[in-house]
Amino acid sequence: MNTSFKSIAGWTLLLLILIQFVPLRRINPPATESFKAPQPIRRILKNACYDCHSYETRWPKAAYIAPASWVIYRTVSAGRSALNFTEWENARNEKTYELRESMLATIEKGTQHQPLYYLWKPSSALSPRESGAVITWLKASLIKP
Ligand code: HEC
Repeated sequence: MNTSFKSIAGWTLLLLILIQFVPLRRINPPATESFKAPQPIRRILKNACYDCHSYETRWPKAAYIAPASWVIYRTVSAGRSALNFTEWENARNEKTYELRESMLATIEKGTQHQPLYYLWKPSSALSPRESGAVITWLKASLIKP
């Protein structure tokens, strides 16, 4: 019993060490920001959304330690492919209209969108005033496609 526990612990440790060598591309490709919005709105979204939805990710320390790094890397990749503020200008018009619509829905959901992230980083969660400001801006920009 005891030896098997020890060997499980040993193998686990070895595995934890080995997985650190699995390469990941935690990169922020160089890009100029193309998302056009009034400065206050951009500042709000930057703080609340850019970690997963832009090339300006503030990678946390855990992003360098497997297996947490795998989860973080996958989340950021999925986030970037769903919506990328850095590549906003490259999206077609109908696409950005659609994205604004789903942003509205996401913001209305609050921290339910990525609850773990906002639990871990409460300072990034939108305050009622901030989400109100973004919602007003989104609604105004959704009047015509
Ligand atoms: C911790 C990472 C993370 C943060 C922070 C984050 N998102 Fe996301 N977001 C994702 C991921 C992953 C997806 C793709 C999978 C999904 O739909 O849940 C996504 C999807 C989306 C989509 C597309 C949904 C759809 O219906 O296609 C929108 C819009 C969106 N996020 C808006 C936002 C906005 C606005 C913020 C800031 C208030 C934000 N997200 C913050 C990770 C994040």
